[in-house]
Amino acid sequence: MKLQNLILTLCFAMAAVDACPTLYLSRSNISGVMSSSHGFPRVCGVEYCHNLNCNYELVPARNNSGRGVIVRFDYFNTESYHDFVRLEYINLQGQLVTGQFSGSVGSFRARLPAMQGTPVRMRWNTDSSVNSLGFLMRFHAVPAPPVRRYRLGGMLEVSENGVRGSVRVEKAKRK
Ligand SMILES: *[C@@H]1O[C@H](CO)[C@@H](O)[C@H](O)[C@H]1NC(C)=O
Ligand SMILES: *[C@@H]1O[C@H](CO)[C@@H](O)[C@H](O)[C@H]1NC(C)=O
Repeated sequence: MKLQNLILTLCFAMAAVDACPTLYLSRSNISGVMSSSHGFPRVCGVEYCHNLNCNYELVPARNNSGRGVIVRFDYFNTESYHDFVRLEYINLQGQLVTGQFSGSVGSFRARLPAMQGTPVRMRWNTDSSVNSLGFLMRFHAVPAPPVRRYRLGGMLEVSENGVRGSVRVEKAKRK
C-alpha cells in the first residue's frame, strides 16, 4: 500500500516536470535549433515524450525583418495525425497562416513569408500513444539589409553637352 502511494506520487511528480524540448536561440534571436527528443530536465530516450503541449516563439515580432523565415527539418518522423508540429505566422497580406505537419516525412524545408514586425510561432503536441524519433528543426530569419547612411555635403561633377562644372551640395542648416 505504502509502496503504491510512493509510486503514485512519483508519477505525479514526473508528470509535473516540463518535458518540452529546449529551443536554443542564437544571440541575435534570429536563428535557432531544437531537437524533439531533448527536454530539460527530462529526456524520453531517443524518442520524444508523451503528452506534450509545447509553445515556442521562433522569431519575436521585433526581430522579423519581413524578408522571410526559413525553417528546415533535417528529419521528421511523428505519429501521423496524433503528434504534430504546427507553424504559425502572419503572411504579407496580413492573414494568419497555419502549417501542420505529422507523419514520416523525411526532411523538408519551408520558407515562410512572414510580415515584418510579426512573430513566428511553433507548437509541438504529442498524445499518450505511439511515439517516435521526432525531428531536428533549424530556423533562421533573413536579416534586414544594413542601413545605408548618406552624409550630406560634397561635390557633384557634371560633364554633359559640352558643359563642364561642379555643383556643391551643402549640408542643410538647422534652424
Ligand atoms: C532573445 O530572446 C530571449 C527569449 O525570448 C530574451 O530573453 C532575450 O532578451 C532576447 N535577446 C535579444 C537580444 O533580444
Ligand atoms: C532582435 O531584437 C533585439 C531587441 O530589440 C535586438 O537587440 C537584436 O539586435 C535584434 N536582432 C536582430 C538580428 O535584429
